[in-house]
Amino acid sequence: MKKVPIAGAAIILAFLVSVFSSCAFNSEEDLYGIVECDISIVTWENPIKEILAKNCVPCHNVDLHYNGVRHDIYELELIVVNDGRLNGVVNHLPGYPQMPYQLPQLPECERLLINIWIEQGAPEN
Ligand code: HEC
Repeated sequence: MKKVPIAGAAIILAFLVSVFSSCAFNSEEDLYGIVECDISIVTWENPIKEILAKNCVPCHNVDLHYNGVRHDIYELELIVVNDGRLNGVVNHLPGYPQMPYQLPQLPECERLLINIWIEQGAPEN
């Protein structure tokens, strides 16, 4: 077996420590972003209505409603919950148009909340 000189090993170790510690500092913001996903309450009133209002209602409301889909009223939201389209478009499942339309996929936390809401039977409040 090839022997690594002590000095060489120490330099490698010092390098690794500096890489990992700088990583830890740089990713603090990202970590907080993920930790802040509050899933304690998941109902239409809080926070689903607001997620959809921000990301979906601009194209799915009383005046403009692509494919007849609206996201501004609970009773109408249940249509796409029950036929699987909300799940399909938000999670980018094959066979569904990807929503929000021509925009980046919803952040992980918002998708998680929508998925939990659907799994729990889409409670209103
Ligand atoms: C910029 C406008 C726009 C935004 C924002 C948008 N949509 Fe759409 N939506 C569309 C268009 C256009 C279609 C029709 C796409 C197609 O059939 O290819 C559509 C269709 C749909 C459909 C019907 C899919 C089907 O197979 O019938 C659903 C469900 C839907 N959108 C949900 C959402 C959700 C949920 C969001 C927010 C996360 C959202 N949309 C955001 C424009 C938008």
